[in-house]
Amino acid sequence: MKWTGLNDLREEFLSFFEEKGHLRLDSFPLVPKDDKSLLLINSGMAPMKKWFLGQEEPPRNRVCTCQKCIRTPDIERVGITARHGTFFEMLGNFSFQDYFKEDAIAWGWEFLNKRLAIPAEKLYISVYLEDDEAYDIWTKKIGIDPDHMVRFGKEDNFWEHGSGPCGPCSEIYFDRGPEYGCGKADCKVGCDCDRYMEVWNLVFSQFDSDGAGTYTLLEHPNIDTGMGLERLACVLQGVGNLFEVDTVNNILKHVERITGKHYGDDPKTDISIRVITDHVRSTVFMVSDGILPSNEGRGYVLRRLLRRAARHGRMLGVDRPFLAELCNTVIAENGGAYPELREHEDYIKKVISAEEDRFSRTIDQGLSILNGMVDAISNAAMEGKKKILSGIEAFRLHDTFGFPLDLTKEIVAEAGIEVDEDKFREELQRQRETAREDRKSKDINGWATDLFGELDAEPTVFVGYDKLESDSTVLAVADEDELVDAVSMDDGAKEGVLVVLDKTPFYAEAGGQVGDMGYLTGEGVKLRVTGCKKTPKGFYVHTCVLESGLLVKGAKVVASVSRRLRMATARNHSAAHLLQAALRDVLGLHVHQAGSYEDSSRVRFDFTHFGAVTADELAKVEKIVNEKIFDALPVMTEVMSIKEAKERGAMALFGEKYGDTVRVVNIEGYSTELCGGTHVANTAMIGGFKILSETSVAAGIRRIEGVTGTNVLALLAEREALIADTCEKLKVSNMADLPIRVASVNAELHDLRSQLDKAKAAAASQQAEGLFKNAQEVDGIKIMTAYFSGTGADTLRSMCDKIRDTVPLSVVVLCGDSDGKGTMAVAVGREAIARGIKAGALAKLASAITGGNGGGKPDFAMAGVRDASKVDEALAAVPELVRSLMK
Ligand code: ALA
Repeated sequence: MKWTGLNDLREEFLSFFEEKGHLRLDSFPLVPKDDKSLLLINSGMAPMKKWFLGQEEPPRNRVCTCQKCIRTPDIERVGITARHGTFFEMLGNFSFQDYFKEDAIAWGWEFLNKRLAIPAEKLYISVYLEDDEAYDIWTKKIGIDPDHMVRFGKEDNFWEHGSGPCGPCSEIYFDRGPEYGCGKADCKVGCDCDRYMEVWNLVFSQFDSDGAGTYTLLEHPNIDTGMGLERLACVLQGVGNLFEVDTVNNILKHVERITGKHYGDDPKTDISIRVITDHVRSTVFMVSDGILPSNEGRGYVLRRLLRRAARHGRMLGVDRPFLAELCNTVIAENGGAYPELREHEDYIKKVISAEEDRFSRTIDQGLSILNGMVDAISNAAMEGKKKILSGIEAFRLHDTFGFPLDLTKEIVAEAGIEVDEDKFREELQRQRETAREDRKSKDINGWATDLFGELDAEPTVFVGYDKLESDSTVLAVADEDELVDAVSMDDGAKEGVLVVLDKTPFYAEAGGQVGDMGYLTGEGVKLRVTGCKKTPKGFYVHTCVLESGLLVKGAKVVASVSRRLRMATARNHSAAHLLQAALRDVLGLHVHQAGSYEDSSRVRFDFTHFGAVTADELAKVEKIVNEKIFDALPVMTEVMSIKEAKERGAMALFGEKYGDTVRVVNIEGYSTELCGGTHVANTAMIGGFKILSETSVAAGIRRIEGVTGTNVLALLAEREALIADTCEKLKVSNMADLPIRVASVNAELHDLRSQLDKAKAAAASQQAEGLFKNAQEVDGIKIMTAYFSGTGADTLRSMCDKIRDTVPLSVVVLCGDSDGKGTMAVAVGREAIARGIKAGALAKLASAITGGNGGGKPDFAMAGVRDASKVDEALAAVPELVRSLMK
C-alpha cells in the first residue's frame, strides 16, 4: 500500500477484515461499561470481555474495530522519550469461538505482507515457548524462515491485562534497520533498543484469569489481536516515532506555532512540545466521551494530563490559556473517524478551557512555592538532611493550588526529591472515603444480578410500550433475597417480594425514568408493585408487597400498570426532551444531558453549562416548552439503525454505546432523541410545564427541576393557599389589592420608624442637656458622666459622639447595659485631647475599677464593665483620672 496517511491506513485494515467476514464496529467509548476492574479502555478487547467469556452474545462471531485506547502507567515518561504516549488507536480482529490460530496467523500475514506489501525479510515472529502449533503454522504453512522465528516465555508471549480473557500470544516485529539499533553484537528481536518494533500481537485467548493467579480454561478458544495504528503508520510512513506520524505531527506543528518554539532545536523544549501534543490528543478524546476533570479515578487522570500540559506550556513561555485552541487541530485530524469529536466540539473546548483557567489562577503561585521548597530541601540536603517533601506540603499544593500529587512528584523528582506519600494519602483519605461511600450507594443492580443471574429462561418480553396490561407467568420469586418456590403472607402484608415475569407491561427503571407501579393479580393472590428493575440479562424484576393470598412460582397473573402514574411519569419524561431542546435553543449547542430523573411527581434534568442560567433565560426556556405543548405536536417512536438515527440528528448520551438498532423518540419538528422511555402521544398531553428551580450540581453541570400536568395545578393550588393566607393576615379581601396593601403597610412602617427616630433624638438631646447641667469642670474641661440602664453599646457611642462634637473641651464617660452585658463608652473632645487626655487610656483606667478592660483611639474608646456594682465608683473617679492624665 502506498502511504497516504493514518486515516487511510485505518480504513485499509477495517475493510480488509470486512472482506474476511468480520463485522466492523465503531470504537467503544473510553469509559468501560460494567467493568470495575478498569479505569479506562486500554485495548481493543477490553470492551468485549463478556463476548469472550460467553456471558453475552456478540453481534457476530467475528468483528473488527479500531479502538480508542488510553494507557497511563508511565505518564511521567511521556514527552521525555519520543516512544511513549498516553493515547493510541488499536486495530484488532476478534473471533468469538469461531476461527482460531490458523486463520488469525494467515490473515495477519496476508495483511502485512500482501496488502501493505511489507517485505518478508523485514518481519520477525515470536511465539510462546511451548506453542509448537503456532510455530509450525508460521514456519510450515506460511513459510517463515526459522531464522526469523523466536520463542519467548510467559513474560513476553502470554498476554493478560488484569482479570479477564487471556492466553499465549504470537507477536509480529518489524525490523527498522541497524540505524535504529544499539549496535551490540547480540542485538536481536526482544532487545530493549528501538530496532525491532513490535507491531501486532495475536492472542490465542484460551483462559479466563481472575487476576489473582487462577486460570480457567474457556470452553471455546477465541482470537484477540491488537496492532497500534500509530506504530504501523510509523512503518509505512517511514518515520521514527509517533510524533512524526502525519495526524499527530499536525498537532505538534500547531504547538510550535502557538509557542513560537521549533521542534528539534533544544532537547528540553522538545520534551515540552511532545507532552503538550500527546496530552491534548488524549484529553480531547476523554472529554468527548463524557469524562470531566476531578480528583478521583478517570477524572483525576484527565486533570493530571491537562495540568501537566498547562505546566509545560508555561515552561515554553506561554502565559495565556492555549489548550482549547489546540483542540481545533485534534478535532480536524480525527473528526472523520470519530464524529463524536465534531458533535461535541463546543463542549470539549469549554471543558478544557474551564480546567485550564481554573489551574492558571493558581499555577504561578503554586510553582513559586514549590520552587522555594525545592531550594530549601536541596540546601538542607547539603547538610546531610534527607531529600523529602513533606506529605502535608504536597497536600496543600494539591488542595490549595490544584497540583495533582503526580505532577508535584514529577516536578520535585527533577531535583532528586521524593514526596512523603503516606502522609499525603492520610490527608486525602477523608475526602476519598466520602466519595467511595457515594459510589457504593449507586450500585443499584447488585441484588437483582446476583439473585436472578442464573435463571434458566428466556429474558422477559416487555409489552409496555403499547399495553398497560398483560397475562403473564411467574418465572421466579424471591423473598428476603433468596429464591423460593412460593411466598405467603406474614401477619399482615408482606414487603420485599421480588417477582420475575415472562412478559410484562411494567417499564423497568432506566435512562432516568423510574420503574412503573401497579398490581399483579391472580387466583387468590394480589401483589402491589412498587418498582421494577431489569437485570443485565434482561429479566424484569418487580418489587412487590404481597397484599393477599399465596404466590407460587409458575402462577398465572394479570400484570397491570397504574395508568395514572404511568401518564404522570410520561408527561415528565416528554417534558425533559422538550426542555433539552429548548435549553439548546436558548443557551447554545454546548448543552448536553448529563443525567435525568423522571417520576410521577417531577422531572429533574442535569445538563452541561457554565455559569448559572439567568432568570431571563429560564423564563424563555419555560415559555418555549409551553409553546411546544400548546402546539400539540405528535410524539412518535421508531426503531431504526444507529446510522439512520445519527443521520436524523438524534441526540445521544455522552459516552453511551448504543446497539445496532435504537429507539428514537421524535417530537415533530422540534426534538429527536435516542430513548427507551415511555412518552405521551402528543405534547398537548403534557398539559403545561413549570420550572421549580435551577441549581448547580458540579463544576460545569446545572440542574433544572420542574413539574407538569396535574402537578402544575397542585403547585398553583399551593401558591393560591399561600396568597390567601397572606391576604387574611394583611386583612385584604381581594387578592388584587395585595400589592397596594403591602405598599401602604410599608409606608406606614416607614412613617412610624421616622417618628421613632425623632423621639429618640429628642430624648437623647434631653439627656445631653441633663448631662451638660450636671457637668463638672476640671481645669476648664467639662466632664460628663452618666449611667443609662437598658442601653447598649451603639446608642452609648452615638450619644458620646454627639456631645464630644459639640463641646471640644470635654470628656464624656457613659455606662449602660443591655442583655446583661455592661459597657462603658468614653469620648474626648478635640481640645481636651490637646491637653493630653486620651479616650483609650481613660477607658482602660475607669473600666479597671469595675474589673473590666478596654481601649481605643484618642477621641473614642469602649470598655467592658465587669462588676455592675462598681459602676458608680468608676464614674465618680473620672475627674480624678482626668486630672492624672492631663499634661
Ligand atoms: N489484547 C491484546 C493487546 O492489547 C491484543 O495487545
